[in-house]
Amino acid sequence: MAPEIRAVGVLGCGLMGSGIAQVAAASGYRTLVREVDAEPLAKGRRAIEGSLGRLVSKNKVTAADRDAALGRLTFTTDLLALTECDLVIEAVTEDLALKNRLWAELDGRCPPETIFASNTSSLAIGAMAAATKRPDRFVGLHFFNPVPLMPLVEVVRAVSTSSDTFDRSLAFARSLGKETVVSKDTAGFLVNLLLVPYLLDAVRALERGVGTVTDIDTAMRLGCGHPMGPLTLLDFVGIDTTVRIAEIMFDEYREARYAAPPLLRRMALAGLYGRKTGKGFYDYSVDPPVPVELQ
Ligand code: 3HC
Repeated sequence: MAPEIRAVGVLGCGLMGSGIAQVAAASGYRTLVREVDAEPLAKGRRAIEGSLGRLVSKNKVTAADRDAALGRLTFTTDLLALTECDLVIEAVTEDLALKNRLWAELDGRCPPETIFASNTSSLAIGAMAAATKRPDRFVGLHFFNPVPLMPLVEVVRAVSTSSDTFDRSLAFARSLGKETVVSKDTAGFLVNLLLVPYLLDAVRALERGVGTVTDIDTAMRLGCGHPMGPLTLLDFVGIDTTVRIAEIMFDEYREARYAAPPLLRRMALAGLYGRKTGKGFYDYSVDPPVPVELQ
């Protein structure tokens, strides 16, 4: 554990927030995770219990360690409960105004030494840091889905991040058992800078009829050894989330490769968000999932 971090706060208990809270608690940190309402909070708790349960059934975690991790977790709807934390990690929707409202509320109440970290996948860390009175104690900690399994954290240093904050954040990410890479504060950081155009190109290939959903995924799984094909991965990350990330990256770079293809936008409008809504490129109401007729 990082010695000066006793309690970790996590803003948001969705796909990423629940995973981050889980690994922090499993790594020995007292962890407070906050959602706006009881319902998403309960859903996040179930996701953590389910994930820890899978790890126990695979003998990767003991039942005692699972219970200890769950015992270190506090689920709350009270934002100000997080003011006792030494590190607050934000994992809410990719909406700068929403994120900055939360930071503004916490900034005035948290002790000056508390580090603020964002799990944003595409927004500028500097745009959040500048909205607080602690731009030197602001950093990016970008996790990958599913957080308990993916070994990487991108540690993002904004122009204003102090060396002390950066070093402590890096030590914290490593204390979770994660590998770290360091990225400049530029939209998409390292992973999404490379991954997002690839995912969008897979949608373009589908739009142009180069191959079917199944064949595009099979091509990349078997031809390149990827664990998931790009369309399966899009369903996994979330179509709505990817459209948002693409919009932010397009806004930053103004390059066509980051523009969300029309099919992806139509899917987002139709609520075909992927796994989280049960339907995206695939229909998850059946096992194994089957491709959805999209054209
Ligand atoms: N918690 C605990 N255990 C889990 C789990 C979870 N959330 N999800 C899966 N598992 C376990 C399963 O029980 C299984 O255990 P076993 O190997 O001991 O039997 C193991 O993980 C493998 O799961 P599955 O057999 O269901 O499926 P896979 O073999 O396909 O592995 C995967 C799942 C690890 C998700 C793999 O498919 C993979 O690595 N996919 C790529 C994921 C990826 O690219 N993530 C990054 C997305 S980009 C991102 O997050 C950034 C953002 O900004 C957009």
